[in-house]
This record gives sequence, C-alpha cells and structure tokens, in this order.
Amino acid sequence: MNETKLKQLLDEMSLEEKIMQLVQLPGWAYEEGAAVTGLADDAKNENMKRLAGSTLGIYGADKVKKIQDEYMKNHPHHIPLLFMLDVIHGHKTVFPCPLGQGATFDTEVVRKGASIQAKEAAADGVQVTFSPMGDLVRDARWGRVVESTGEDPYLNGLMVSAMVKGYQGEDVSDPDHLASCVKHFAAYGGAVAGRDYNNVEVSEHTLREQYLPAYAEGIKAGAKLVMTSFNTLNGIPSSGNTYLMRDILRKEMQFDGVLISDWGAIAEMESWGFAEDLKDAADLAMKAGVDIDMCTEAYSGNLGKLIEEGKLSVDGLNEAVLRVLKLKNDLGLFEDPYHGASDEKFKKVVLSNESREIARDAVRKSLVLLENKKNALPLSGKRIAFIGPYANEKNLHSTWAISCDPEDAVTIVDAAKECYGDSDVVFRTAQGCNMLKNGTDLGMGVYEVKKEKKENEKLLDEAIDLAEWADEIVLCLGEHIGQSGESTSRAMIDLPKPQMKLFKEMADMGKKIITLVFCGRPLDLKKIPEKSDALLICFRPGTEGGHGIMDVLSGKYSPQGKLPMSFPWCVGQEPLNYNAYNTGRPKPQQRPTIFTTRYLDCPNEARYPFGYGLTYSDFEVSKVELDKKVLGKDDKITASVTVKNTGDSAATETIQLYIRDMAGSRVRPVKELRGFKKVSLSAGETEKVSFDITEDMLRFYTINNCWDSEDGKFTVYIGTDSATLNGTEFELKKQ
Ligand code: NOJ
Repeated sequence: MNETKLKQLLDEMSLEEKIMQLVQLPGWAYEEGAAVTGLADDAKNENMKRLAGSTLGIYGADKVKKIQDEYMKNHPHHIPLLFMLDVIHGHKTVFPCPLGQGATFDTEVVRKGASIQAKEAAADGVQVTFSPMGDLVRDARWGRVVESTGEDPYLNGLMVSAMVKGYQGEDVSDPDHLASCVKHFAAYGGAVAGRDYNNVEVSEHTLREQYLPAYAEGIKAGAKLVMTSFNTLNGIPSSGNTYLMRDILRKEMQFDGVLISDWGAIAEMESWGFAEDLKDAADLAMKAGVDIDMCTEAYSGNLGKLIEEGKLSVDGLNEAVLRVLKLKNDLGLFEDPYHGASDEKFKKVVLSNESREIARDAVRKSLVLLENKKNALPLSGKRIAFIGPYANEKNLHSTWAISCDPEDAVTIVDAAKECYGDSDVVFRTAQGCNMLKNGTDLGMGVYEVKKEKKENEKLLDEAIDLAEWADEIVLCLGEHIGQSGESTSRAMIDLPKPQMKLFKEMADMGKKIITLVFCGRPLDLKKIPEKSDALLICFRPGTEGGHGIMDVLSGKYSPQGKLPMSFPWCVGQEPLNYNAYNTGRPKPQQRPTIFTTRYLDCPNEARYPFGYGLTYSDFEVSKVELDKKVLGKDDKITASVTVKNTGDSAATETIQLYIRDMAGSRVRPVKELRGFKKVSLSAGETEKVSFDITEDMLRFYTINNCWDSEDGKFTVYIGTDSATLNGTEFELKKQ
C-alpha cells in the first residue's frame, strides 16, 4: 500500500479504531474462548479483541492464520493484527544466549544466527521480535546480563547492529524476516545494585558515552521498533520520559519507527509515584511519544478522555497510529496478513541441518577457555568421566528462549556418544549431585528433589566410583536455567552448594579435572580455577550446546571465545568493568598502597578481564608500531603489531585495539575498545595486524556537552585482552 492510501485509511478510521491500534493485548486473549484476564471486564473483552492493533506471545502458523482471519473479518477496516514474540536467541533452533554471542567477537556469526531465528519464527507466524537487547551491563548481580552482549559499548553496538540486520534482512516485507525491536530504552542495565526493574542514576556523559551507543547502532541498522525500559532514569520512568524519547530517540537518533512500552510499563508509572493514575500515565506516555501500550488499559481506557479534555490532540494521536500502520505496511501485511507463514514452510525450515550447523559453529566460537594448565585440554584420556548435573541436561537455553522445545537440544553425553562412537575411548557419566539445593526458591516455584532424602549422597558416591575409574573427569556444572533472566537478581553469584560440594570431592581425588561452567552471568568461581586443570565457560549454549562443546573438548576446534564481561574475584567487586576511570590515586604496582584506590581484601582488577580467553595454542604480540606519531583532523595513523603463533597447533586469536585519552575536559576511561581482528595462524606462523586510527574514534561527550575529540596525548594498546599493557603514545593535533 502506498503512503497516500495509508493516510486515507487513517482518515477513514473512527477514533476508537485509532486508539485501539495503539493497544497490545497478551496472546492468551486470542486463544479459543479466552478472556483478556486481568485487563478488561467481560463487557469490554470482545471489543478489545476485535480492535487491538497487536498481540504478543502467539506462534504456530495455523493458529496465527486462524486468529488473523477471524480478526480481519470482524475489524471494521479489515486491518491486520500484528503478531509479536520474544525471539531472543532462537525460536526452535536456539543459539547461544546473547552473552555467549558477545563472547564470539564475531558479528557475522551473530548476524547469521539472527537470520536463522527470523526464518523459523516468521514461518511460524511471528512478525516482530522483541530483540536485540542493547542494554550495557556492568553488574553481574543483574539476572538480565544473560540477554546482553556485555559491558562494552563498542562491542554491544556491533552486536546489536548485526542482530538487527540478521532479523530484518534487506527488507522486512520478505517473509523470511521479522521486524526487530531494540530494547530497553534506556540504561535498563544500570539498575542500582543489579536489582531488576530499579532506579538508574547516571550522568549525562556516562549515559551518552556508555549506555546509548548500542541502541543507536541498532537504530542506524534500521530497527523498526524500540521498546521503553522499566527503570527510571535520573528519577523519570522511561515510558514517561519526554527528554529521552522525544529529544534523544526521535530527534537526535532520528528514530521514526514504532516506540512500544515494555509490558505494563505505562501503568507502572503509577506505582513509581510519577503518574497520579492510569489516565495521567497515558497522558505522560503519549507526551513522551510511546506509540503502543503493551498490556495495560492505560491507552484503551483513557486516550478518548484525554482528547475530549484537550490534553491530547487528534494530530498527536494520528502520528502514533500512522507509525503502527506503517509498520504493518512495511511488513507487507496489507498484501499478505500472514507474512508468508505456513505450516508447510515451517516444517521445511525448522531445525534444519543447516540451521543446526550454524548454531553449532556459534557455540564453538562462544566458549571461553579461562584455564588450561599443562595443556589439559583437548581431552586425551582413554577413560573419560562426564560428571555433574549438566552432563546430560537438555535445558541448555535461557528462560528467554520461550518457544523452543528443550527436547531438541543435544546434551554433552549425546555429543560424546557421536564423538567417541567408533574409537577406543570409553566414556561414562554420572549426575554427581542435584542442580540446586533442595528448597531453593526460584520465584516461579521452589526447587524440590522429590526422590529419596539422601539423594545427593548417593549421587556423590556414584560420582566418586566413576572418578576412580577415569583418567580424566569432565565436570559439568552451572547455574540452573532459572537463576538468570528477568527478575533473577542474585546477591551471591556463585554455583549452587551441592555442585560446590561435588567439585570439592572431585578435586580432592587428584585426577585431571576439566570444569565446564554453564552460566547466564559472570560468577564468583571460588576455588574452581585453582583446582581445575582446565576451565571452560559455556554460557547458555542452546540447542547445539553438546555438539559445539564436544567439538572443542575433543580438539577438533580450538576455543576462541573472549569474555564480554569481566569475571570478578568476588561479588563485592560488582559492578565491575574494565573501562573505568583511573582515579586520582590509582593503586601502584608496588607497596605501600595505603591511601590509594584499593580493596583491603581483594584485588581491584577482575579475576578474568573483559576480552580474556585462551586458545589451544600460544600467541605472542610484538610491540605496537605506529606509522606516525601525530594525527591530524582528516588523517589516519596505522598501528600495527606482528602476531606469532608460538604454540604447536593452529588456532584463532582475537587481537584487540584499545585507546586511552590521557587527559580530557572530562576524565576518560583507562582503556576503551576501538577495534578487533581475528587471526587464524598455524603453529609457528606470523601475521602483521594493523588498525587505522582516525579522529572520530577519539571523540567523547566533552565538557561542552557535545561529541568531539580534543587535542593531546593518547595511548594505543594492542593485545589479546583488556588488561594488556602493550601500548605506545601518539598525539592528536587537529590544526
Ligand atoms: C518484559 C521484558 O522486559 C521484555 O524484554 C519483553 O520483551 C517483554 N516483557 C515482552 O515479553
């Protein structure tokens, strides 16, 4: 439909029809015989279902078609209903959780993954995904770090952009793609003390330098929607924050797509004590330019009244409605209201070998090797014991892979069978302990072990017997799936007690121990690194988890993942990020350290820093060479290193470029990631790796409240993680 016709349609719509385009109903409202429970009374029900512009949570091509047919038949202008769903890291083929995807440092892997997710979901009736999450995260206590690609604005920006491109393709009307929604605008990840849904106090320059860039990259990549966040930002809830939404999002970032509230967030402005009542909340949200009200009655019940009272203009309403109609039009729904969904197509594309292969590759690249003493990995024993609650666990996804079937997942034991089937390696497995302590409250129910009381003792005895038999023990430990995700803040970020007990018993046996940790956040690993011969972080790897992990354990592939978030020594260090400020009293390398920035009982630095991760080989990075020492305005400096694989196997290393602005009109971080390149080298091989540095890479939010660079000294570092000290200085002289 062309723009003129779309406007014509808008003109023909009644006020009620228009308002209802801005209302999103939960999917259950459209399930057979269902009521809009909790939202509307019976009398309003049918009318809301007849006119609401969008719904979330429904998938299944046949089901969607049936609902769409019925809806369009009853809608006065036969405008299609819009179907949205959280496809966060997979619909049926589940990819590593976003934190794991961040660890790949590979935008192409991430883009491809998003395109597979879109293809499966679109064939199954989904038209919009609530992904990617561009929230910068620095506090491992916050459960939603699992949905983020990490603590670095530059890396997040690349990842968010890659996801948007993967979901949306060249054109969202293409039935293999979805419209993508960048969320949660803004700074949701800055919640105080990692407490979900909380207050965020952040200065203007930190907001702009750290928190906003990733969302901006998603918008530049063409994301069709943006979602508001649950938090307040400096005292103002996002859904009513006119400065954030109108001035920054619409004007500065030039976002002209649909702005949707998070679930219930408009009504929550009342609980926050920002709106007096629902009507006031609706007024504030419309003023801020929020187009769709997700699952409250703020808009449906109040926009009419606001117009009557003259608080909302018809033009203001039309503007929002037109954006929703335009989205439907961009998706091609006026021509094909199912957006190409069909059961036949879905069966063809779902969990295809190709999709599984791409997911498996993503898993391999997401695994981060933190320890590998005396080349403990790859596995080399003839008798291998896979012990622990994750050895045979199918729940390898996160709680945000809501539409997948865990039964489709490949466990480590499944993959080990394939890997060692025809060889002389024998492997056995034991659960070792229960995943959690009996009685752990996950908020969605208490974890209960129903079997015999002494189950953990029995499981432990079995594990000890097995360990005695084995040459090598692969300990498969991790957080329970319900320990990360929305509303899962943790004050203690360690592994569950029964698993730590299992670890201790196993470590005391003096055998070679390879520890795998499945997690949705950085953890306090306690004694695990010291007492393990190798340690591999697996995040939440998804459907192909077992395969990807066995590919690496067996040595078919060298690991190459890099931490997208710092791992702390203990929870007291959180929030923890590498790109912090130096302070006026940085801790010196040598003692005495009194009256400097320090903890008395723990290092300042991360236990494993951002960007860290080993391979099965060793690499040497030469000193940084610059082709010149002074950078002009429209100039570039080339910084180069020679990288040598000094180990005895081929591997891929990620060479990272960091820059420090030595003095600025506002203090600047000790390092900021500004580029990275992967180099694949065979044993003994060398390669020159170069990065161009230009003036725009040195800009920040200056004392003049604008993005600019300032003349002066900079240090450029090139190394294999953010702790590298391999640096050299140059100068920026714009004139
Ligand atoms: C709440 C979550 O915060 C958001 O990320 C999600 O997309 C919506 N619910 C819809 O399910």
